[in-house]
Order: sequence, then structure tokens, then C-alpha cells
Amino acid sequence: MTKKTVLITGCSSGFGALAVKTFQQNGWNVVATMRTPEKDTTLGELENVLLCRLDVTDEQSIDAAVEKALAEFGSIDALVNNAGYGGHAVFEQFEMSQIQAMFETNVYGPMRVAARVLPHMRKQGSGVVVNVTSMAAEVGLPFASTYSASKFAAQGWSEGLALEYAPFNIKVKTVAPGAYGTNFSAATDNNFTAGDEQLTTYAGQLAAHFEGLAAQMRQQGGKEADPQEVADKIYQCVTSETPIHNAVGADATMLMDMKNSQSREAFLEQMSAMLVPNR
Ligand SMILES: NC(=O)c1ccc[n+]([C@@H]2O[C@H](COP(=O)([O-])OP(=O)(O)OC[C@H]3O[C@@H](n4cnc5c(N)ncnc54)[C@H](OP(=O)(O)O)[C@@H]3O)[C@@H](O)[C@H]2O)c1
Repeated sequence: MTKKTVLITGCSSGFGALAVKTFQQNGWNVVATMRTPEKDTTLGELENVLLCRLDVTDEQSIDAAVEKALAEFGSIDALVNNAGYGGHAVFEQFEMSQIQAMFETNVYGPMRVAARVLPHMRKQGSGVVVNVTSMAAEVGLPFASTYSASKFAAQGWSEGLALEYAPFNIKVKTVAPGAYGTNFSAATDNNFTAGDEQLTTYAGQLAAHFEGLAAQMRQQGGKEADPQEVADKIYQCVTSETPIHNAVGADATMLMDMKNSQSREAFLEQMSAMLVPNR
């Protein structure tokens, strides 16, 4: 059987790096893309892994990576849009330019890459696209409303795409992780100190509250949640029949149960009590 090829974005750390190893270990060719491949010390050494520069905000780098992938492996059977980052602040503390930058990466980024890969998948008559979203796409998160907006957008786009491209035998799915201790927190665009005193005081309260909550959510069965679960879920979505939307992590499953077992209003009231201090 000919080897299949997956192209993954954001492979310098976290879920992306783990997904590279997971696909490679299962006999796939992997196009491991990242903004600064010169910093990589491990993935490029692996057999059947092609390291490529790809910044999801830079069309030329996307074109070059896709061309290189096709020249090297002849096809792209799966695309994993994983690159992304978060942001914590009260809404008014963000500059519009910061919000736009986040959408450039979290929303327009996966769209740019998919726009370049889908023509190839249509031509070959098959393909799978997995977009890594978040639990922030399932509930509008206070203190991360702009991140939630970007992930809601990515999720809505994915859902429409899934229905639209099914007739071409192209499957589109989302993997929505709960909280995991990757490089995600360090890379988050935090802006707690901008704005007037009322905003900065409130941001300080929210920051303290969320720090404790995130640490709690990352605990599963008394230990840190293992980000390999997300890489495994991505692999499962590419290689097996799954629903379009796929939550992963004990906290994510719990949240989905809460969301699906009551009215939207009751769910949001429960979220507010949990997430907003001093209501
Ligand atoms: N960890 C969590 O708790 C969590 C929960 C839900 C969803 N997610 C989502 O999971 C995905 C992966 O995050 P992670 O947890 O693995 O965090 P991570 O370790 O910070 O990895 C994020 C990756 O995205 C890359 N990236 C950022 N901007 C990029 C751009 N413009 N072009 C190409 N690559 C870019 C980063 O590259 P650089 O090294 O160049 O910055 C890095 O490789 C993200 O979409 C995130 O929103 C994470």
C-alpha cells in the first residue's frame, strides 16, 4: 500500500509536534510545518518527515510548503490546521490590531492553507481536513472573548465546509481540546495592564481566578492532562469514522455534557457562576 501524507501546521511545539510523531510512527509521510524550522532539533531527523517553513499568515510560505510536499511525496491526503494562539484580557484592553492579528492566525490562517490544499484533494477525489478548535468554540469565555470569537469562527467555517465538501469525498472535522499544559499559556497574548483602573483591577481578579481554574482543569485523575490525547484524537479523526466535532480531554467532555444536558441559558448561568468572580 502506498504511504499516505499529512501536512500539519504549528509543529514547533505542543499538539503539532506530538501529531508529527504520531503519524510518523504509524507509517505516514509527514510534512511538519512551522514558522522557524531552523530551530527544530528533533522532528527533521525522523524518517519520512519533511520539515518546511510555513507561517499561516504568509501566502507565499503556504504555496512553497504545499509545492514542496507534493514534489516530495506526490499527494496530500490529510491536512491538520493546528497552528493558533490564545489571548487573555478584558475585551477593551485589546487593541483592534491585536484582535485582527489573532484572527489572521486562528481563522484566516487555516482558511488560507485549506484554500491551497483543497483543489489538490478534489483532484485526487479524497482527503481529510482536521481543524484544531477549542472548548472556547463551545462557550463564549469571559476574559478570552476574542479568542472564543476566533475559535467560534473556525468551528462555524469547519462545519459549513464539512457539509459543502462531503460530495467531493473530502471530510472536514474539528478537534476541540480542553486545557493542556503545552506552550499555549506562554504564547498567549495577555493584556492585563492596559486601560483604566477599573479594567486593570477587574483583569487582575479574572487573571487570578483563571490561573487556579486552568490548573484545576489540566488535572485529570490526579495528574496533568497528557497532550498526547489530542495528537491521538487528531490521528483517529484522520484515519477513522468520527463525528464532525470531537471534544478531547476530561474537562472538555464534562463541559460538553453540561452544555448538552440543559438549555443554553441554564448552561450560560452555570458557566458564569464558575468563571466570573464576584458577580
Ligand atoms: N493547550 C491548550 O490548552 C489548548 C486548548 C484548546 C485549543 N488549543 C489549540 O491547539 C492548537 C495548538 O496549540 P498548543 O496547545 O499545541 O500550543 P503551542 O505549544 O503554543 O503550539 C502552537 C503552535 O502554533 C504555532 N503558530 C502560532 N502562530 C503561527 C503562525 N502564524 N503560523 C504558523 N504557526 C503558528 C506555534 O509556532 P511558534 O513556535 O512559531 O510560535 C506553535 O507551533 C492551537 O490552535 C490552540 O488554539 C490549545
